[in-house]
Amino acid sequence: MNKDHKVLYSGMQATGNLTLGNYLGALKNWVGLADEYECYYGVMDLHSLTVRQDPPAFRAHARELMMIYIAAGIDPEKNVLYLQSSVPCHAELAWILNCYTYIGELQRMTQFKDKSAKHADNVNAGLFTYPVLMAADILLYQADVVPVGKDQLQHLEITRDIAQRFNGIYGDVFTVPEPYIGKIGARVMSLQDPSKKMSKSDENPNASIYLLDDPDTIRRKCRRAVTDSEATIAYRDEQPGLKNLFDIYCACTGKTPEEVVHEFAGCGYGQVKEALSEAVIAVLAPLQEKVKELQKDKSYIDNVMKTNAERAYYTANKTLRKVKKKIGLTDVR
Ligand code: TYM
Repeated sequence: MNKDHKVLYSGMQATGNLTLGNYLGALKNWVGLADEYECYYGVMDLHSLTVRQDPPAFRAHARELMMIYIAAGIDPEKNVLYLQSSVPCHAELAWILNCYTYIGELQRMTQFKDKSAKHADNVNAGLFTYPVLMAADILLYQADVVPVGKDQLQHLEITRDIAQRFNGIYGDVFTVPEPYIGKIGARVMSLQDPSKKMSKSDENPNASIYLLDDPDTIRRKCRRAVTDSEATIAYRDEQPGLKNLFDIYCACTGKTPEEVVHEFAGCGYGQVKEALSEAVIAVLAPLQEKVKELQKDKSYIDNVMKTNAERAYYTANKTLRKVKKKIGLTDVR
């Protein structure tokens, strides 16, 4: 890891069942960034607690996400890959930053509004202060850039506001992060409702392709994907279902929408779906193979989690100590 490089920070919730959206929209595009940046990627298990988790399944999912990061090609020696909960500084800084964040700001967060409508029986305080924990994640590592999809941009904006407010009072404590503008990942929509993003929390399993789905499941989900009754091969907003299938196909094959429209000219939607499922299977097969291999080597993953937690802690704690000193907390160590 090159310490002279700019710092890049990102992560995913450890809620299990990562989708093709998480992969094509985020993970796939993280590979190779370590050549240019000092990269930190968290398995965000504390964020997952806003939804009730089954403890054994939750533990397994966090571990699985770590394996998926590595299987996708993110080298745990060139990048820092760690479990958020293994670095206590996150929760500590989040508490401090809560005291520099206004209720009105949090009430404006669209994800909070959406999720509290969806989980009306469990609108907990963690769901409300979720963006503050995310700000702590990013600011602890003095990140210059944060690659996230559009759905997370509002959270990055509030992170910037909190950092600027804090710096305004105490001087330059935090680097104010920018969204990472690099190779933009695909925005993958639900296969059952192309007006919604593909999401791991979708209750309809046919709406999402999961990274560890087997080939038959992928074929079945693609066959059932919602299209339209126009029976026209085109890439346009008026045919959102087909457009989404083409976007996924492009992201998997590296082709452009024009090339794809040309390739399928005169075909039926069935042929598009068949080609799409084979393209998705081809992209996921090596990743799934590698996850299977990693699952066999318990001590390797244990070791990655331990050594990387130490590396992350070292950086995070430096920032936390500086913050504590600035605000007047006593350091007795
Ligand atoms: P999460 O776990 O919901 O998503 C992880 C990443 O995947 C992207 N993504 C998608 N991209 C394209 N199409 C989709 N259908 C799709 N679904 C998800 C997201 O934009 C995201 O980049 N709050 C964050 C996790 C987090 C974080 C952080 C991220 C916690 N702390 C600090 C960056 C920095 C989240 O819930 O992502």
